[in-house]
Amino acid sequence: MTTAAMLNGRATAPIESLLQEQRIFAPPAEFTATARLKSQAEYERLYRQSMDQPEQFWREMSDRLHWSEKPTVMCDWSHPPFARWFTGGKINASYNCLDRHINHGLGDKPALLWEGEPGDRKVLTYRQLHREVCRMANVLKAQGVKTGDRVAIYMPMIPEAAVAMLACARIGAVHTVVFGGFAAEALADRINDAKAVAVITADGGWRRGKIVELKKNVDAALAKTPTVQRCLVVRRTGQSLAMTAGRDSWYHDLVAGVSDVCPAEPLDSEHPLFILYTSGTTGKPKGVVHTTAGYLLGALLTCEYVFDLKDKDVYWCTADIGWVTGHSYTVYGPLACGATTLLYEGAPNFPDMDRFWDLIERYHVSVFYTAPTAIRAFVKWGEKYPQRHDLSSLRLLGTVGEPINPEAWTWYHRVIGGRRCPIVDTWWQTETGSIMCTPLPGITATKPGSCAVPFFGVDLAVVDRQGRELPPNVGGFLVIRRPWPSMLRTLYGDDERFKQQYWREIEPFYFTGDGARRDADGYFWVMGRVDDVVNVAGHRLGTMEVESAMVAHPKVAEAAVVGRPDELKGQALAAFVTLKAGAEPDESLRQELKAWVGKEIGAIARPDEVRFTEALPKTRSGKIMRRLLRDIAAGKETVGDTSTLEDYSVLAALRQDRE
Ligand code: WTA
Repeated sequence: MTTAAMLNGRATAPIESLLQEQRIFAPPAEFTATARLKSQAEYERLYRQSMDQPEQFWREMSDRLHWSEKPTVMCDWSHPPFARWFTGGKINASYNCLDRHINHGLGDKPALLWEGEPGDRKVLTYRQLHREVCRMANVLKAQGVKTGDRVAIYMPMIPEAAVAMLACARIGAVHTVVFGGFAAEALADRINDAKAVAVITADGGWRRGKIVELKKNVDAALAKTPTVQRCLVVRRTGQSLAMTAGRDSWYHDLVAGVSDVCPAEPLDSEHPLFILYTSGTTGKPKGVVHTTAGYLLGALLTCEYVFDLKDKDVYWCTADIGWVTGHSYTVYGPLACGATTLLYEGAPNFPDMDRFWDLIERYHVSVFYTAPTAIRAFVKWGEKYPQRHDLSSLRLLGTVGEPINPEAWTWYHRVIGGRRCPIVDTWWQTETGSIMCTPLPGITATKPGSCAVPFFGVDLAVVDRQGRELPPNVGGFLVIRRPWPSMLRTLYGDDERFKQQYWREIEPFYFTGDGARRDADGYFWVMGRVDDVVNVAGHRLGTMEVESAMVAHPKVAEAAVVGRPDELKGQALAAFVTLKAGAEPDESLRQELKAWVGKEIGAIARPDEVRFTEALPKTRSGKIMRRLLRDIAAGKETVGDTSTLEDYSVLAALRQDRE
C-alpha cells in the first residue's frame, strides 16, 4: 500500500499495535555512578528547557563548539521548512574536530585507531591526524578545489577516508561520500547530481580477502561525469592501474613535500558541510544537505550524552563512512568531542566470524555501536564466536538502522554486553543528522525494542493524518514538530522535492515516513516505514511486529513480512524466514511458525504463507528491502530501482522457493 493510501484509511488507529514487550532493564548502578547524566530530574530539566526556552538552551549548548564568531540568532524559522541555525556565527568543523583538542593538550591522544582487513594497523594521534588533514587540504587547494565546490569521496574504510572528509571541511569544500560498495552507475549518478569537481578514491579496498576495485569503478563512472576535473588516488591495495593523464594523480605524489600548515577557513554556520545521498528502500536517490554548525552540534551533543563518551573510552561504530552513521558517529561526533574512534576496513566474518569480537578484545573497545542486521547475523552464527573473546572492556552498547527485535536485543544484552552494559537503541535518519530518540544510558530504564525518549530539543510525536497527537499505545505517524539544529536543510538542487517529501503529508510537521506508537510511560516504539504497513481484513498492521514474533522462535534467525493481494482479506501476510544453523526448513516447522505467531500476537497476524530462504534482500546498509519481497510474494516481476540491492542472487533464489 502506498503512504497516501494508508494515510487516507478510515480506521481510528492508523496502525494497530499487537506487540507488547514487558521486560524492563534498569540502568546498572555502576554505570550511572560515572555517567554524564545521572538523574531523571536532570534529563527532564534539560528537556523542558530545550522546549520552553529554546534560544537560551541552544545558546548555552552552542558554547560546546569553538566559534571564530559567535552566532547572534539561534534558530531562524521565518521561512519554513527552510531553517537557519546559529546565524551570524562563523565556524569550522575540522577546527572543532582537531585544532581545538590539540590546543587543549590532547595532541598526543589517539584520535583514530585503524585496522585493515588483512590485519595491518595504524594509530593517528590528534596531532598526526591534524597534520594529514592540513596536507590533504593543501593538495586540494593546489588542485583548484575551492570553498563551496563539491568533492566526491569513494574510499575504503582507511584513515585517508576520514582525512578526506576533514580536509574538505577545512577549506569549505562540500563532500559527498559515496559508499565504496556502490557500482559505477550509482557513483556517476551521485557525482552528476552534486556536480562534483573532484573525486578522491583509492586503487582498491579489502573485503573478505578480495580487492574491491574502486578506481576501476571510478574510471567507468567518470566517462559520464563532465564536471569532474581531478581524481586523486590513494594507494591501498597496490595493483597496477590505468591513470588518465591530466585528470588522475597518485595522492602520494601530490602530497610529497606539501606543507602541513593550513589554517581552517572560518565558514558561515549554514555553510553546507556535506551532501549525502539516501535512497531509502525506494526511488531515486535524494541528496540530503547538511550544514556546518547545527549538524556538528547535534553530533557532538549526542556523542556526549548518548554514548557518554569520556576521555578513556575507546569507541567503535561499525558503520561505513558511506552512511550517515559513519559521518556522525565514526568521524564528526567522536572527533568533535575529542574521543578515540576505531575504524575497521573489512567484513565481520573475515578471516572468521569472530573478527569483531577479536577487535573489541585487542583494542579494549568500551563503547560499541552497530546495527540490528549485524546483530541478527551474529545470532545466526552462534554464541561460540563471541565466547572465544574477552569482551569485558565493553561498558555501553548501541544499535541503529532498523527496529531491533526484542529477541536480538536480549541476545546482544546477554552475550555481548554480559548483562552489565546498557543498550542505547537510537532512532534517527540520514535527514535528522544525529540521534533523535534514545535511552540516556545512565538514567533510562530500557525496554527491548523501544528507542525510549526524545533527545533534547526534539519535539517528537505520534499523530494521526491531521497532525493530532494520538493517545498512548495507538499506532500512527511519527513526526517532528519543530526544527532542530542537525536537520537537513534541503535536498540538493531540489527544494520542491524537499517540501513534497517531508513537509506536505502532515503539515506543518516534518514527517519521518515511519509508523510508531508511544506507550503509557512516554516511550516510543518505531514500527517501521509506513509504506511497509499491511492491511489485513481491515486491520492495519506494522509488519515489524510480526517479524519480531517470528524471530522470538528459537529456530528463526531473521524474518521479513510483507502483504500480498488477497481476494478475501484485502492483503494476506507472507513471511520470508531464514533459520539458525542446524534448523530444518520443513513443512512441520512451517506450520509450527504460523501457529507460533498466532499464539504470540494473535490470529489476525498469523502468516498465510511462510517461505524459507537462505538470505533476505537487503540494501547495502543492511535494511531489508520489503518492496522487492512484496513483488515476489505477489508473483510480479520486480519493477523500480534495485541499484542499492546488496546481492542480486538472493532475488532469483527467492523466486524459486514457493509454498
Ligand atoms: C529506521 C540511519 C527503529 C527508520 C541512521 C528510519 C530505526 C530509517 C532506528 C533511517 C531505530 C533507524 N529503531 N527504526 N533505532 N534507526 N531506523 O536514513 O525507519 O539509513 O526512518 O539512517 O531507519 O535510515 P537511515
